[in-house]
Amino acid sequence: MSRTPLRAGILGTGTIATSPTGYLVGLMQMKDEVTTVAAADPVIERARTVAAQYGIPEVYESLDEMLDKSDLDLVINLTPIPIHGSTSRKILEAGKHLVVEKPIATTMEDADELIEIANRKGLTYVVAPPNMVQPNRVLAKQLVTEGAIGQPCFARVRSSHGGPAAGPWPLDPTWFYQEGSGPLYDMGVYGIHDITGILGPAKRVVAFSGITEKVRTVRDGPFKGKKIEVTADDNTLLMLDFGNSAFAVVDGTFNVNAAKSPQIEIFGREGTINIYNQWQDPTAPPLEIFRLDAVPGVDGWITPRFRGGDEARQRYRRAIMVKHLVDCLAENKHPILSAEHARHALEIMLKAIESARCGRVLDLRTTF
Ligand SMILES: NC(=O)c1ccc[n+]([C@@H]2O[C@H](COP(=O)([O-])OP(=O)(O)OC[C@H]3O[C@@H](n4cnc5c(N)ncnc54)[C@H](O)[C@@H]3O)[C@@H](O)[C@H]2O)c1
Repeated sequence: MSRTPLRAGILGTGTIATSPTGYLVGLMQMKDEVTTVAAADPVIERARTVAAQYGIPEVYESLDEMLDKSDLDLVINLTPIPIHGSTSRKILEAGKHLVVEKPIATTMEDADELIEIANRKGLTYVVAPPNMVQPNRVLAKQLVTEGAIGQPCFARVRSSHGGPAAGPWPLDPTWFYQEGSGPLYDMGVYGIHDITGILGPAKRVVAFSGITEKVRTVRDGPFKGKKIEVTADDNTLLMLDFGNSAFAVVDGTFNVNAAKSPQIEIFGREGTINIYNQWQDPTAPPLEIFRLDAVPGVDGWITPRFRGGDEARQRYRRAIMVKHLVDCLAENKHPILSAEHARHALEIMLKAIESARCGRVLDLRTTF
């Protein structure tokens, strides 16, 4: 039986913990359901500052110490990508429910093992990104499933930005550009979750991938002028085959400094769905649909009215991940933002890089 409020520990008090769209602002909106009792970061001063700002009573220098000394129900893992696997393993082995940032891990062995531990211990395990609980994604999935655009044929998914060095990043962004991280894991992961969440698991992947600039210079912020050696591919384009001649193209790059196209376009035999990124463009509709059988005289495009819009995202920010975990526990449900979906996305990313290296189309083994 879960306690109310649940007791949470934050691991990693960097950018996504503290940004205006990040976790702590959102967690302050759900104090009835979750109390943040502990924060841990090897940069202990950072953890102390954050704890003082948000009224977090316990501060630790390491995950081990936090797990050892703090009485927690769940841990929110906001560490850099290369250590998601090792830290998540400790958290689950300690019997704590887990929210972890994307990606789930960086090897399939880790992802398989993490899911096995969570299942064995009966833990709820929620993995970013939160896209598939956003109302426009939920509606897109429903429309596709109901046949509103007929047989899906192909999708174009834009899933990149210019990279953290392109603007005023608050902390040192070096790790984003180096081995074990990169834009496919950092950004492509969103589009992969989106399109597999809407169309279902993919069956095959093929990709091109490379490094466009061997050294990036931070353009603004406290690390302005810093030269970063780029050792992870910064430019990946992948294609997915869903079977039945349905395909998608997804980008995972740090080379989209600006774009105006919809974030996702899904083309079916009877119509089209466009999904926009409302964080980037608040004036764009969340979703619009074109149907061949639209009333004559109307141009065919309809913007469905949203009941409630995306107020949950506005309220809880990135802590919508934590809200999802709380709701799953209360309702005894398996997460929509599941580790199995995240493992499928990881397999696509790993095989995309492998495909780019070997020049072949690769089969996918996982599903969700
Ligand atoms: N920054 C964003 O806008 C953003 C958005 C969505 C998701 N994310 C994800 O959030 C995660 C963290 O990204 P970030 O941008 O906050 O990174 P960051 O570099 O700003 O912060 C990471 C923090 O983790 C700490 N840390 C490092 N090793 C640790 C360890 N072993 N134990 C505990 N803490 C440790 C660092 O000291 C730092 O405070 C990544 O998985 C990233 O993909 C970031």
